[in-house]
Amino acid sequence: MTTFPEGFLWGAATAAHQIEGNNTNSDCWVLEYTPGTIFREPSGDACDSYHRWQEDISLLREVGLNAYRFSIEWARVEPADGHFSQANLQHYANVLRFCHDSGLTPVVTLHHFTSPRWLMRHGGWGGVETPARFAEYTREVIKALGDQIPYICTINEANINTILAQLGVGFRPTEQPRPQTAAPIGIGEGLAEARSGVSGWWAACAQELGTTPDRLKPANFSAPEDVEPTLMVAHVAAREAIKAVRPEIQVGITLALHDWQAQPGGEERAERLKHEAFGKWLPTLNGDDFLGVQNYSRQRIGPEGVLPNEEGVETTQMGYEFYPEALEGMIRQVATAGLPMIVTENGVSTEDDTRRVEFIDRAIAGAERCLADGLDIRGYLYWSALDNFEWALGYGPKFGIIAVDRATQQRTPKPSAHHLGQMAIRNGPLR
Ligand code: BGC
Repeated sequence: MTTFPEGFLWGAATAAHQIEGNNTNSDCWVLEYTPGTIFREPSGDACDSYHRWQEDISLLREVGLNAYRFSIEWARVEPADGHFSQANLQHYANVLRFCHDSGLTPVVTLHHFTSPRWLMRHGGWGGVETPARFAEYTREVIKALGDQIPYICTINEANINTILAQLGVGFRPTEQPRPQTAAPIGIGEGLAEARSGVSGWWAACAQELGTTPDRLKPANFSAPEDVEPTLMVAHVAAREAIKAVRPEIQVGITLALHDWQAQPGGEERAERLKHEAFGKWLPTLNGDDFLGVQNYSRQRIGPEGVLPNEEGVETTQMGYEFYPEALEGMIRQVATAGLPMIVTENGVSTEDDTRRVEFIDRAIAGAERCLADGLDIRGYLYWSALDNFEWALGYGPKFGIIAVDRATQQRTPKPSAHHLGQMAIRNGPLR
């Protein structure tokens, strides 16, 4: 059996907006609450983790895990342009301290899809000044919290816009829509209309955010337009801001990555899709300490593009194929970046926790085969620690290893949480 390297991170991941609750100062909140919204339900209290974080962290520790990935919410840290809230920074300082005291290594994300409302007035991710603003926010985070952060993911799934476009379900489709919903994140119905950017809902959101429907298009992170060039500059600016103060912090970005499987005749197409989603990022990753890899399934690609699921295959609540081997396939493909990898997300949405246990076993077996072949994998962070707010799909999909009762907020670790925790315990001494 392969030995997992010393210090291997065994943990679970979350994102601020999906668990904290009442993230009222973010752009996403406006999208959710504006009449006509494409969100099935708004985030509301979410998992109330802004208050219940001690319990969340304690549960992860109790089941045996040694790492926790969570995100810091820019909209809370910088609630108004140029005003940094010391009180909200202190909140995250407390979370970090508690992670360390509990024996969990924190992996911190600086941006996980949501942005401060005010940023939209300045063009958001379409604005030329945004990379500098993001670097400024990063600097404040590092000044206040840097001594407690060993790993930073600057931007979560910075390539999500391309991934959605390729599936034909995003705001700027480059491919035919797939017959079933198979987006790697919770994208709801109604996007087609919103895509035009002129729906009543979109216009009302723009007004609420102090901008115009057209300017909002590239501003919002799930943007209808290609914002990746700005994200690339923002990542490099943030990395430089971190390294200038704390060169020891391990910095990376996270990307949504498929196991791109070319079917006969689809080889060229597969290469193109892979290049758009991954290859074109390589120059930007130059200088990073690790790559955060995130995978949920495979993508079968024929000469005409992405193929629908084969008849009769098991699917997840998200509509894509239950295929845990995709983690291995993806890791082998992106190892060419030459960076140490951390699996910053991998998981399955299902009501049947026995399927989650099976998914975790098969995914980790794949990671082990990669390790045995000498690939450099430093951690496995399951998505997600808690059943949480799956974006436009609301609270329907269940990704968590910990169940959350929506009425009482009571947490209950599922058998999969214990299962993953036992793997952590078996495969390495607890820190
Ligand atoms: C995102 C998460 C999301 C998860 C499951 C990832 O693409 O980073 O925010 O909840 O997928 O769909």
